[in-house]
Order: sequence, then structure tokens, then C-alpha cells
Amino acid sequence: MQSTDIRTRFLNFFKERAHAVVPSSSLIPSDPSVLLTTAGMQQFKPYFTGEADAIRDFGSRSAASVQKSFRTSDIDEVGDERHLTFFEMLGNFSFGGYFKREAITFAYEFITREMGLPISYVTIFKGREDIGVPRDTESEQIWNSLGVTDVREEGIADVFWGPTGSAGPCGPTTEIYCQNAAGQDIEVWNVVFNQFFYAGTREELLAGATGKKLEPLATPGVDTGMGLERLAMVAQKTRTIFETDLFASTIALLPSTMPERDKRIIADH
Ligand code: SER
Repeated sequence: MQSTDIRTRFLNFFKERAHAVVPSSSLIPSDPSVLLTTAGMQQFKPYFTGEADAIRDFGSRSAASVQKSFRTSDIDEVGDERHLTFFEMLGNFSFGGYFKREAITFAYEFITREMGLPISYVTIFKGREDIGVPRDTESEQIWNSLGVTDVREEGIADVFWGPTGSAGPCGPTTEIYCQNAAGQDIEVWNVVFNQFFYAGTREELLAGATGKKLEPLATPGVDTGMGLERLAMVAQKTRTIFETDLFASTIALLPSTMPERDKRIIADH
């Protein structure tokens, strides 16, 4: 399946499920707390905090997008089989509408039925008492009810999203892993349950900054992000993202004598 078909299938899948299709926002965000757009949820932050009204702006409490994103956090990893600085994020969002059951069921149906791909395993948040967030047993039960029994617990560093920038929505996540052609389990989709607002940075949250607590979010909801390049690698049965149709033609232009890692870094640029 070509990457253009994956984008179309994703947006159509969610359109058929009452999501408004919203164009990618600029890589230069209106959010002053970050220099570049790092996730699909960035343009939707005001809908989670209650500063904007999704019904008024989109005619729906749910939206879907394919967002151009740029992250420097993985810059030293670029050149391996799956990391990039610039990538496209397929995302579906709920602003005070559906929550865990629907979000997990949508993700399960899209991966297994629409894409016809097996899920290797999923992860859930194991909980952390000092920040007042319990183990996400509800997500585990939903996965089990869908027949996914390999559900692994992870901690705050891996399965608790956000906040981005200096403050914002955040919450526990469940991640979906699928296998690439090299037999590696790759995280393809991050399904975030935005339940909290944190008035500080992620670093402060992780360090347990004194005086700053997670507050219930005005409009709890769902924020998901799936890497188009990683999904294309799994769907096109390649060993790396650089062998997918998104990069193969660029790589083919580079001299055959050039080291593979260098070619991949140039392709990312
Ligand atoms: N915000 C989450 C992420 O970027 C899910 O979209 O992974």
C-alpha cells in the first residue's frame, strides 16, 4: 500500500466515524511555548484546555489530521531504521467526546481490519503514586476485550504524554507495536488520554517539581499520533523507513559508495 493511500485511508476511516478532517497546521506553530510543531495535538491545544470550542470551529467534538511535525529530540537517532526529525503524524482527536473505549477500539480496527496488520503487543501506564495517577487498568481491560492479551506495563518516561512546551494538557497513553520486515517490534501509534493540565514543563513533572500539581483538564479527551513513515514500513514490509516509497526515490539518487547512515540522514533532511 502506497503512503498516499495510507493517508487517505486514515482520514476516510475517521471521517466515516464523525471526525472533522482538519488540514495540517504550519510547522511554525501559533503556540508560543514551542519553536516548531512537534505533534498533531499542537494546533488543538486550546480545544483541550477549553479556550476554544470544537463544535463551533469544526462542527464536531472529534477531528482527524495528517500533521507535518519536526522533533529534535531524536536527532542523534536519525539514520537507524526508524527515527526522523521531520515526519508526518496521523492523528485522531476527541475534545470532550469519546474516551478510552472508543479510542482503543478505533485504533484496533484501523490497524487490524483497515490495514490488515497484526498487533505485536500494546503498552499501558503502570501508574505513579507521587503524581496521583493510578495504573491504567481500564485500557488493559479494553485491549483484552478486543482479544489483545499481550499488554505490557511501562512507566512515566514512555507512556505518559506531555505537556509540550511550558505548560499544557497531558495524560497516560497506550502504545501499539507492530513488526517490520526485520522482525523488530516498532511503536507505530501512541494513543494519549488527555486527562490533566500541568502548569509546568515535562521536565518539572518528571522531577516532581514542588508546588506544581496535575489538575483535572477542562475538556478531557483523546490525542493520538501514528507515524506515517513507520506505518508505511510495516505495511510495505520493509526493514527500515528509508526503504518505503516515502524515501526510496531520494536514497536512489545518492552515490552507491556513500555510507548507508549518511544517505538516510540526507533523506531525512
Ligand atoms: N501527542 C502524542 C504524540 O505526539 C500523540 O499524538 O505522540
